[in-house]
Amino acid sequence: MIKRYTPLQLLIHIGAWIPIARLVFEAFTGGLTANPIQHIEQRTGRAAITLLFLSLAATPLNSLFGWKEPLQRRRALGLYAFMYATIHVIIFTDLDYGLAWSLILETVFQKPYILVGAAAFLLLIPLAITSFDIWKVRLKKNWKRLHQTVYFIAPLVVLHYAWGKKGTFFALQGDILLPLIYGLILVLLMVLRIPAVRRFLASARTRWRRPVNSRNPAI
Ligand code: HEM
Repeated sequence: MIKRYTPLQLLIHIGAWIPIARLVFEAFTGGLTANPIQHIEQRTGRAAITLLFLSLAATPLNSLFGWKEPLQRRRALGLYAFMYATIHVIIFTDLDYGLAWSLILETVFQKPYILVGAAAFLLLIPLAITSFDIWKVRLKKNWKRLHQTVYFIAPLVVLHYAWGKKGTFFALQGDILLPLIYGLILVLLMVLRIPAVRRFLASARTRWRRPVNSRNPAI
């Protein structure tokens, strides 16, 4: 039997492969720039953070519009984010550092932004492994607790992004605009998760949806 995919599922599964397809296309057409390793590192890093943020947007989309389907797509988005983060780390350790582990460890502890990225990556591993239903059953309440660490991981990734850029974050100088935009989006996504804000949005939605004459029976 052919499985029917919803438009959102198709969008996610096609969209998530676009960064890789672009990189392959660029590899064959000489478009990987003068510094191909850095280019691939940056592209996969951006794909990872974007997909991670899209997975975090599922709950706010539900609270804002009552749209339930994104909640069922969180796992796919999170796993795609992890896939890109893994490729990103493999490019760094293998292509960039030729698997010279002592040099890699030295760099991790020398450059704070790499240390922060490594912490985020290590913390993402248990989330990816336990994202399947069987782990939900096994871990019971702890599953939710474990997966809430994403609220700590996401700021780490933004910090990794901002710190890796030339410029001063707090003086808003240099190449800081994109990491700043990601930081602001993260703040918004977190605010929309606050229970009081969610309750307010849910009641605003119900009021908005209620037909006009039921709000004013005299009409
Ligand atoms: C061991 C873990 C990690 C290492 C060693 C690492 C390494 C790097 C390096 C070397 C760069 C700078 C590339 C350049 O501009 O020269 C970078 C940038 C970046 N990384 Fe990571 N990273 C790690 C984890 C992560 C994770 C887990 C994410 C996201 C989930 C991530 C997202 C990013 C982003 C968004 C950038 C900026 C891309 C840009 O400049 O456009 N990284 N990372």
